[in-house]
Amino acid sequence: MSKDRKSLAVYPGSFDPITNGHLDIIARGLSVFDEVIIAILINPEKHPLFTVEERLAIIREAYHGDARVHVDTFSGLLVDYAERVGSTVIVRGLRAVSDFEYEFQMALMNRRLNPHIETVFMMPAEGYSYLSSRLVKEVFQLGGRVSELVPPVVERRLREKWPK
Ligand code: PNS
Repeated sequence: MSKDRKSLAVYPGSFDPITNGHLDIIARGLSVFDEVIIAILINPEKHPLFTVEERLAIIREAYHGDARVHVDTFSGLLVDYAERVGSTVIVRGLRAVSDFEYEFQMALMNRRLNPHIETVFMMPAEGYSYLSSRLVKEVFQLGGRVSELVPPVVERRLREKWPK
């Protein structure tokens, strides 16, 4: 049976910066959906390390040449963004039980806001279950090694922010 429409999932987040845990979830997403849009939230209330433009450039470099991965930004409601781009699926990673409550609340709120959009949770490889953008920044700033935790472009950009 041939499919005439490509399945498209939205993978939203702050990605400040993107980590190998995020890349793992995106790879898993691509094993289920034809294409994934990495959607960076524009949140003026947060004080990110990397600007939205920097995060866009970093992710574009990490996925250079992969036609199945798109990068975009959004503000406002996630479900409205998903509808705008023609997706009915939100992908989120669940690392540990501690993620569950926040993710559960968001998924149910999003469902209430738009019942046609489904949230799909994916578990990263165990090795990434402790990994977060916040910890990567902290470890790097304090002189720890992050090369196994982030793509090379992120390590390079971290070094530009915090030269040793
Ligand atoms: O990487 P993060 O910070 O955990 O991602 C959180 C994100 C971007 C998925 C979430 O804050 C979000 O979807 N914000 C958009 C605003 C929105 O739709 N809020 C209502 C849903 S609970």
